[in-house]
Amino acid sequence: MAKQKFMTLGRHIIEGEKLHPHATGELSHLLRDLSLAAKVISLEVNKAGLVDLLGFTGDNNVHGEQVKKLDLFAHNMLIRAMDHGEHLCVMASEEEENIIHISKKHKVGKYVLLFDPLDGSSNIDANVSIGTIFSIYKRISPDNTPGTMEDCLQLGLKQVAAGYVVYGSSTILVYTAGHGVHAFTLDPSFGEFLLSYEDIQIPKKSKIYSINEGNYLYWHKGLKNYIKYLQDEDKNTQRPYSSRYIGSMVADIHRNLLYGGIFMYPADSRNAHGKLRLMYECNPIAYIIEQAGGRASDGKKRILEIQPETLHQRTPIFCGSEEDVLMVEKFMAEEDKVKA
Ligand code: AHG
Ligand code: MN
Ligand code: MN
Repeated sequence: MAKQKFMTLGRHIIEGEKLHPHATGELSHLLRDLSLAAKVISLEVNKAGLVDLLGFTGDNNVHGEQVKKLDLFAHNMLIRAMDHGEHLCVMASEEEENIIHISKKHKVGKYVLLFDPLDGSSNIDANVSIGTIFSIYKRISPDNTPGTMEDCLQLGLKQVAAGYVVYGSSTILVYTAGHGVHAFTLDPSFGEFLLSYEDIQIPKKSKIYSINEGNYLYWHKGLKNYIKYLQDEDKNTQRPYSSRYIGSMVADIHRNLLYGGIFMYPADSRNAHGKLRLMYECNPIAYIIEQAGGRASDGKKRILEIQPETLHQRTPIFCGSEEDVLMVEKFMAEEDKVKA
């Protein structure tokens, strides 16, 4: 992973589009609009402690979780930044039950945008890193018509771009458009995202696992065995592993992407489908992890091959360094064989 100097996000995206002979530049514009929304959200996150933005709105989102004000701010900001660019035909957000149509005042375009406006929102008040996750598809409905639910419910494999922004000690935007994974750090003095890492490769094997261990009691026996295995000592396989879990998926994923690691949010006896959302969290992260040479599965099959049925469906996820993900799949499969 080479350190780069002075390449703006805008220029990098345009250079990337040149690799496609028929590219119209629309995707570049779309990503540029998204990065503008990210800058505004970043600013707001940074001053969250200073203004009356902290605390609950008192409302619940479609998942029955309490919505914080910054979630709503980020959700609205993304819609405001994206609805008039003429690149999108429809959007969907973790914070809204139905698909979001483009107002009739604006022309529709050929892309579809799904997003988690603010990920890790339980961490807002504690000044811990939070983020935005996005996923972009080409429409399958006819051009120049309103986008549809079918446009939103495409296989993860069909994503044309995906990314996340971490609002942390600095603001960093990571994206893939199918040619590797690239990271850009926001320079707050002149408001540009500058290339920090080009073509990030996640280590094939790691020494870090990330999971909410408080749910241990409810896990699959194979997963319990796997975690015990990681905690055992064996110098050859660099065990015991370190445990790192922040509770903001973007932040846990970003660290693991750079250092190597396995992130898990499994199904358990209380939540048959785990917690995380396929369309807003798991698909975009799986696309990025695979583009970086890692693996992302629901324990059995690739996340990107899961046929979505509903907008807000959840899926278990195991993703990160390839060898580690293969190992947890093996532990769970062995236990299933014993049971069968
Ligand atoms: P969100 O803030 O968008 O609802 O997502 C929170 C998610 C994810 O970021 C994190 O990995 C996970 O919830 C943490 O859940 P637990 O507190 O159950 O570990
Ligand atoms: Mn989230
Ligand atoms: Mn969220």
